[in-house]
Amino acid sequence: MNAGEPGFDRETFLAQYWQRKPLLIRNAIDAFATPLPADELAGLALEDDIESRIIEYREGQWLLCHGPFVEEDFRRDCPWTLLVQAVDHYVPAVAQLRSLVKFLPSWRLDDVMVSYAVDGGSVGPHYDNYDVFLLQGEGERRWQLGQFCHAGSPLLPHDELRILRDFNRTTEYVLGPGDILYVPPGIAHWGVAQGECTTFSIGFRAPRINDMVSRWADSLLEQLDPEVFYSDSHTEPVTRAGEIRPRDLERARAQVQAALDTDTDSHWFGALVTEPRYACDTSEDELAGARVLLASGAGAVALAPAARVAWQQEQAGVVVFVNGEVSSFDESVLDCLMALCAGDQLAVSVLADHLARPETASLLDYLLETGGIYVE
Ligand code: SIN
Ligand code: CO
Repeated sequence: MNAGEPGFDRETFLAQYWQRKPLLIRNAIDAFATPLPADELAGLALEDDIESRIIEYREGQWLLCHGPFVEEDFRRDCPWTLLVQAVDHYVPAVAQLRSLVKFLPSWRLDDVMVSYAVDGGSVGPHYDNYDVFLLQGEGERRWQLGQFCHAGSPLLPHDELRILRDFNRTTEYVLGPGDILYVPPGIAHWGVAQGECTTFSIGFRAPRINDMVSRWADSLLEQLDPEVFYSDSHTEPVTRAGEIRPRDLERARAQVQAALDTDTDSHWFGALVTEPRYACDTSEDELAGARVLLASGAGAVALAPAARVAWQQEQAGVVVFVNGEVSSFDESVLDCLMALCAGDQLAVSVLADHLARPETASLLDYLLETGGIYVE
């Protein structure tokens, strides 16, 4: 699905489909071969620190269990689906799939979830709050698309699963290996495996407006002087005891509005959208080891697969966000930063040049410290 390939044009996609309408892209990837066979996916679901789930449909009920699993969990007599989250963090070939959507801001991307289902397996009719590109790996899956849903759409009673009570089918497609179905937020969808199959969900994320307001307000409060108070010079004489008059409220609103208009930086946004879903702590020892390796001429440096990195240009330079952390640099770091963000591996010779420049050397150290890059 490279930009400009037949059947998929990124300008048309962005203008007509993104966030608005589903799109089926047949044979989206030339000479497609699955980046992860089902047995290797099952192997990941045995691991303690990898998030996995099994959803099963038994006697008219949707059942959910959480991993890590053991081999016996994969022997079931009802249709079931295994879902493994953030597989792009662990499997480089799956991380490669992210380049299919590199025409969209990388900080909007969440993770690549991979599912395996036996014949008839499904997670039920549902809708997601985020955009998703559903790439068929092995086998076939029948996808039905339905109505537009919202927070008030009735769900089946379940503590954790959000399965729609009603599903009004509008379209149906059978996807084979290498086909992609793009589904925008809110559209009901229901995929049922036809024989065993795997599906790679390239999922997006978007911050809640509530969280944006809260983070913006936090950043504003850091700027505001706590010793400034509501003022009402030239107030009108009271005519009705105890009343908060419309004029008092107008004054309060105007003073709040003036405070909201205070000039603040916008770093809260980058910090919010790069916050990692999974903790990515590096121990002091690991960090010290990586610093030594980097200083002594490491083989290569690249963006860590789980890292969330973004940047913005400002008059004073470049602000770099890594896993929720914020730091500012001179704009001379841009070539190094953009190469890393584009997914390039910085090899020894290039790295030596970067390390010789104090600004890029300090960028690389910051990226190392915040889990943005790995050194090998
Ligand atoms: C699946 O892979 O079975 C579910 C993916 C989705 O519906 O978002
Ligand atoms: Co979905």
